[in-house]
Amino acid sequence: MRYTLALFGTALLGLATHAQNPLAIPPALDLDTFDLVVDEHVHQFFPGINTNTYGASAEYLGPTLVLHKGDTTNIRVHNQLAQITSMHWHGMHVPGEQDGGPQLVIEPGAQWHYKYAVKNPAGTYWYHPHPHELTAEQANMGVAGFIIVQDEEEAQLELPRTYGVDDFPVVVQDRTFIANGDFAFGPYGNTVLVNGTPDPYLECPAQVVRLRLLNGSNARVYVLGFEDGRNYQVIGGDGGLLAAPATTDRLWLSNGERAEVLLDLSGMEGDSLLLMSYGSELPQTVPGSNNMMWESSALNGIDFPLLRIRVTAPTAQPVTTVPTTLVAQDPPQLAEAVRTRTKTLAGMGMVGMGMFTINGLMFDMEVINDTVQLGSVEVWNIVNNSNMAHPMHIHGVSFTVLERNGVAPPAWEQGPKDVVLVDRLESVKLIMRFTEPAPEEWPYMYHCHNLLHEDNMMMLQYMVRDQTTGIRTEQPSGSARISAYPSPTHGQLTVTTTYPAEHLHLVDAMGRTVLRTGLNGARTSTLDLAPLPRGTYVLLVHGDGVVERTLVVRE
Ligand code: C2O
Ligand code: CU
Ligand code: CU
Repeated sequence: MRYTLALFGTALLGLATHAQNPLAIPPALDLDTFDLVVDEHVHQFFPGINTNTYGASAEYLGPTLVLHKGDTTNIRVHNQLAQITSMHWHGMHVPGEQDGGPQLVIEPGAQWHYKYAVKNPAGTYWYHPHPHELTAEQANMGVAGFIIVQDEEEAQLELPRTYGVDDFPVVVQDRTFIANGDFAFGPYGNTVLVNGTPDPYLECPAQVVRLRLLNGSNARVYVLGFEDGRNYQVIGGDGGLLAAPATTDRLWLSNGERAEVLLDLSGMEGDSLLLMSYGSELPQTVPGSNNMMWESSALNGIDFPLLRIRVTAPTAQPVTTVPTTLVAQDPPQLAEAVRTRTKTLAGMGMVGMGMFTINGLMFDMEVINDTVQLGSVEVWNIVNNSNMAHPMHIHGVSFTVLERNGVAPPAWEQGPKDVVLVDRLESVKLIMRFTEPAPEEWPYMYHCHNLLHEDNMMMLQYMVRDQTTGIRTEQPSGSARISAYPSPTHGQLTVTTTYPAEHLHLVDAMGRTVLRTGLNGARTSTLDLAPLPRGTYVLLVHGDGVVERTLVVRE
């Protein structure tokens, strides 16, 4: 009896102070064509407690997609939700029409086939939905997953890269569970989930291991460090490996940011260590601090555990050293920059609410805020005059942080990035080359990656114009090269072009593509608009290297 009690007592103590659940590792898929089924699910994060979730081919989160630089990937996204979605390949250098921003609408029951060349260097990227005003909600419910890009340069390095053995995805999210087991929706959660696992532990072999860290939280910023104060090596940021490992005992990770970290556990078999977030170190201007003006959370302003690491026996062929150099960096040079744009963040708000503006503007799907030339280099200077820090993200590129308030960023922040945290009263200069086209109808977004700020319109759009076709792309609507008749129409619409047309799409007043058809070089085609609501639409016809547009009225 005594014995049982003692055991019970230990178990209780264990519950209170030790991680209990093995860290879930999403399956890694290495395929030519991926199918991601976005659907509603019920998942038990805690035994016996049902939580309504969304997932991508999983109850919560989605598989890790392994892509190879130089290949073409095909990803079919099937929307089984009762609302629209889209899928964005965060950090990937893909043309605007493959980028999955809010212009791309996958209706309930529909699918979208993405196809793009993988041009990014080896690194850790991710996917998440990006539908207009629904990004935060769908991501909060669980739609997100890792993308791991592999390339030959990285393959030459002696780095841990056996997925789930010495190379682990680690996405940190905070969630609040309400009484019926469901998630609350809001800026902060009071429970940490790592890969969807509460109170997680991870068994790691006693050798050099690699953690691919991602902040997948709505708004909380993490300060990553180990409880014993040990140093670790950061080998990569958002968009690939660094020039050399950067040794640190602290790393800030804001929303959407990634960091690849090496941890040398050699000789530590049987030991255990604790990955923490040192929230007490966040200044009052950063979400996750205990700023009394903002929403509160039990985790704000305190240090709390993220992941227990238990060290097990080494593997047969362990990596035992950290390389001294990684990948030569080739960032664009200041002398190449053709333009500097200043983006001033302003506004007073809460962590879960607007009104924040960028250069005094808020998101309007009908407005392209910036036009840059394909292949050009620009400097963007982000100046934050608002009342809090914002993790600013730019689609379609990786950038290099030149300076924060005139000072070079810490070594771990010097690689290619696509999210940068800009604190209040900070000015952060970025340099980037725009290598992918984003035409007017498929512009890229740049926005705050606090998902609630993003959905509250702290987002603008830019297009990347290919100069060789740019002038003709700007032809005024109603040009004689296409005609669409009759308009107004009750249903049937005939579209003719003076050249072979490739495809057309019809965009509604909300900027949503409501109809899209391949034309295979036809000069005449017939559409049926009868199923569409009455209203005015823009018809865009691609072909002959141009996009022609005209207005169509469905009566
Ligand atoms: Cu994670 Cu608009 O992006
Ligand atoms: Cu993105
Ligand atoms: Cu923000």
